[in-house]
Amino acid sequence: METQQEPCKLPRNRRRVILFPLPFQGHINPMLQLGSILYSEGFSITIIHTTLNSPNSCNYPHFEFCSFSDDGFSETYQPSKVADDIPALLLSLNAKCVVPFRDCLANKLMSNSQESKDSFACLITDAAWFIAHSVANDFRLPTIVLLTDSIAASLSYAAFPILREKGYLPIQGIIWNSFEDLEQVELTTVHQQYYLSIPVFPIGPFHKYFPAYSSSLLSQDQSSISWLDRQAPRSVIYVSFGSIAAINEIEFLEIAWGLANSRVPFLWVVRPGLGRGAEWLEPLPKGFLEMVDGRGYIVKWAPQQQVLAHPAVGCFWTHSGWNSTMESICEGIPMICQPYFADQMVNSRYVSHVWRVGLHLEGKLEREGIERAIRRVMVEADGQGMRERAMYLKEKVDICLQRGGSSYQSLGRLTDHILSL
Ligand code: UDX
Repeated sequence: METQQEPCKLPRNRRRVILFPLPFQGHINPMLQLGSILYSEGFSITIIHTTLNSPNSCNYPHFEFCSFSDDGFSETYQPSKVADDIPALLLSLNAKCVVPFRDCLANKLMSNSQESKDSFACLITDAAWFIAHSVANDFRLPTIVLLTDSIAASLSYAAFPILREKGYLPIQGIIWNSFEDLEQVELTTVHQQYYLSIPVFPIGPFHKYFPAYSSSLLSQDQSSISWLDRQAPRSVIYVSFGSIAAINEIEFLEIAWGLANSRVPFLWVVRPGLGRGAEWLEPLPKGFLEMVDGRGYIVKWAPQQQVLAHPAVGCFWTHSGWNSTMESICEGIPMICQPYFADQMVNSRYVSHVWRVGLHLEGKLEREGIERAIRRVMVEADGQGMRERAMYLKEKVDICLQRGGSSYQSLGRLTDHILSL
């Protein structure tokens, strides 16, 4: 169980901000982290969420939680199929939730006898809740959007003009879990090409503000840390493909053999559902773990931020989800990128070709290629260069969060902005 530290509260005229996370791990994490950041700035926080994938309210006793059921969406929802057709899934989720969300928001705004309606400053919604802006608008509640992708990925969708045209994109502001030094060019593009008049707030990396808080939907296996404690510095490759990606049995076995043949110690997160059609580790050859002789450790879900901060970890083999990418950058850990869908493609390309802190595992997933990639990052001179550049970015992270740093300043602008709404 992690220690829960209540963030220190600064004196400020308290106003309540309502946060509306999308019910998936990679979106819940940044939204709840943002809630903690705003709480520490003096705002009261209400989280409106679906009963599907409810966050654990016990970890956030200082937040108010209001849930609504999703009008049947969860009856057809299959976690292992989320990645099959994301646009269809999001459209269905939005369609099913529009009425219950409206009712929940109305209830919250009307029934709060202690606070007048004016004490609600705004709704901060995940960008993938397309319904949120128009519903909030009906109650004259200002909205700010949280884009949980990188700035580059958001630009690559070229979606901004369409979103604005359709009225999905609120004009009150955008919050990004990124920081200026990482995406300076992309930020300039945002300002110049799209949003001259819209304030944008790159205040990331969110998780660095309150690393002790957990919004994990699955229980994090702390034995990962005791296993890492027994490994040599920078000797271990950490392998995890996030909360949604699913792979077939052939790929699963190539990954296992690639790890085994590399002779590098590995900590591998095999989330139930990662292997299509498998409960958990059944596709592994019998005796696989004994064969790798204690050099490999497999868990269902790890305390990832702690793992990446552990001195034994030398490389992260990742699906390039934006949270994972930021968490790795923050610890100066080079990456092997194996993207599956959506923003992961752009993130992977930036890691390998722009920031040059990792490599993109391209082509068919085969054990020989995996073994070569692991050795390149963990053992060869090439990997040393990636590590040095990753450490340089880690230093930039530390600077941007300090007093006067770019994210620190953006957060100040964001709180002023919310108070002005
Ligand atoms: C999804 C999308 O797939 C991703 O592309 C998008 O950027 C965000 O939404 P997901 O696939 O889950 O997210 O990946 P990621 O963004 O990396 O988020 C996973 C989160 O789960 C991270 O915060 C990570 O720390 C956490 N995690 C992962 C654990 O706590 N334990 C684990 O074992 C693995």
